[in-house]
This record gives sequence, structure tokens and C-alpha cells, in this order.
Amino acid sequence: MQLDGKRVLITGASRGIGEALAGKFADAGATVALVARNKDALDNVAGRLGGTAHAADLLDPGQVASLIGRVEEEAGPVDVLVNNAGNAVPAGFTEAPDDVLRMTTELDYLAPAELCRQAIPRMLQRGGGHIVNVSSMAGIAVYPGLVTYSAAKAALSHFTAGLRADLRGLPIGTTLVELGPVPTDLLDKSNDYGPTAKSFQRFYRLHMTADVPKEKVADDIVDAVRKNKRHVRHPKRSAWSAMLVEAPRRMTELALTGVPHR
Ligand SMILES: NC(=O)c1ccc[n+]([C@@H]2O[C@H](COP(=O)([O-])OP(=O)(O)OC[C@H]3O[C@@H](n4cnc5c(N)ncnc54)[C@H](OP(=O)(O)O)[C@@H]3O)[C@@H](O)[C@H]2O)c1
Repeated sequence: MQLDGKRVLITGASRGIGEALAGKFADAGATVALVARNKDALDNVAGRLGGTAHAADLLDPGQVASLIGRVEEEAGPVDVLVNNAGNAVPAGFTEAPDDVLRMTTELDYLAPAELCRQAIPRMLQRGGGHIVNVSSMAGIAVYPGLVTYSAAKAALSHFTAGLRADLRGLPIGTTLVELGPVPTDLLDKSNDYGPTAKSFQRFYRLHMTADVPKEKVADDIVDAVRKNKRHVRHPKRSAWSAMLVEAPRRMTELALTGVPHR
């Protein structure tokens, strides 16, 4: 998709990877519509990039239910939806605060899926669009303290594969982003819990993972939307695990060639 003049809605754009994405999409000529809870931070990023800010809490199903319609009313049609907002609360599964299971599943899986559900019919009515879902290598491997987060990201990754199959033949692209460590607040927080930090240290020591700067991730996501690539995976040395998980999906896709998805 040519990005010049297109509108890109990015969730979780007040900081971290989302803020970097906003900058890179704006550099590519797109107008950005930014969503997160922190209104001041969001206004700041939007002001700098000539975009629009739409403060919302994606943990509030009432706000999520009308979000795409609200952004389109406030800013205009959305051509690209980037579901980037996410959070991990590293802890033992049964020791975590009572609401962590619900909140993580809500933010990292249900809200992105619901936003796709709202955005796709609108995009189709206008002739096309693109969906980017930001998931994690934690949706493939399992790390101590991240069971709930891993399960939510696994759901998001598998959902994105299913969505892509459902959309086959329609003018809507999908990109699944599977990330290892990217230095941001989220990664800092993950290192606060001893068992999670130790498991990451082991992976670094075995050279099974490596930090990737958020700007590099954002560059590759913009490129993937331009070229309609189905995956962005970082670090490259972990991509093999994502490919293994993808294998049965591809085999099913092949076996079901010609069988209608809709
Ligand atoms: N960093 C990594 O190592 C890493 C690795 C794999 C995958 N990822 C994924 O990459 C994505 C971005 O993560 P990041 O590292 O950039 O995290 P981050 O720096 O913590 O930023 C998270 C963003 O999500 C927003 N957000 C959090 N809760 C929200 C809510 N309830 N409603 C609306 N917005 C909310 C935050 O803004 P407010 O606080 O203003 O709401 C912020 O803009 C996430 O999906 C994450 O799971 C990150």
C-alpha cells in the first residue's frame, strides 16, 4: 500500500514502539491517529507529527466498542490499523494480582481482535486497508512469569493467521509482528521479576535472542505495510521458532485451497 496521504491508527502510541511507529508512518507521508490513555503524552506526539490524539483506555470494553467509529468521526477514515498497545505483568500465575489474567487477555488479545472486527467492514466499504497486529516471541516460547502474557500473545498471533485466511481474496492485508526484546518500559518491567529476568539472561547468553531497537522494528513494520508482507520478526535469530509455529497454519492453508472461508 502506498502510504502517502493514508490514515494510520496506532494504539499504544504515547511511548515505546508505538511512538516510534507513529514517527516512521508520518515520515512515510501518512497521517497518524494515535490512541493510548495518557492524553498529555499523546497530544505531545500527535502535535509533533501533525496527527490526531484520541485518548482511550483499551481495558474499558465500552470505550473499545465504539473506538473505530469515534476515531473516524474525529479524524477521518482509517486505512491502516496497528494494534500495538500491550502490557505484561510478570509474576507467578497464581501469585499475580486478581485482575491480571482478565486485564492482560483484554489488552493483548480481545481489544485488538475487537478493533479488527470494527475496522474491516469499514475498510472493505472504502475499497481496502491493512491490519498490523503486534505480538511477541513470548507467544511462541514460554518464559517464567509470563504465562498469561504468552497465552494472550499466542491467541493474537493465531487470530491474525486465521483472519488472514478469512480475508483471502479481499483487498485487506495483514501483518503479524513477532518480537523478542525491544528496549522500552515494558522490557524494563519484565526484568523486575527475578525468574523472568533470569530466563532472558539465559537466552542472551546462549545467543538465542538479542535486543532490537524500536526504530528498526518501526522501519520494518512500515516497509511491511507498503509491501503487504505477512510477517515482521525480530530478532532474526529467533525467526526459526516463528516459522515452525507457522508451518501447520501454512499446511492447512494449502490443503484448504479452493474451500471458501466466507
Ligand atoms: N518491548 C518488548 O520487548 C516487546 C517484546 C515483544 C512484544 N512487544 C509488544 O510490543 C507492543 C508495544 O510494547 P512497548 O514495548 O512499546 O510497551 P510500552 O513502552 O510499555 O508502551 C505500551 C503502550 O501501550 C499503551 N497502553 C498500555 N495500556 C493501555 C490501555 N489500557 N489502553 C490504551 N493504551 C494502553 C501505553 O500508553 P498509556 O500508558 O499512555 O496508555 C503505551 O503507549 C506491545 O503489544 C508489546 O506486547 C514488546
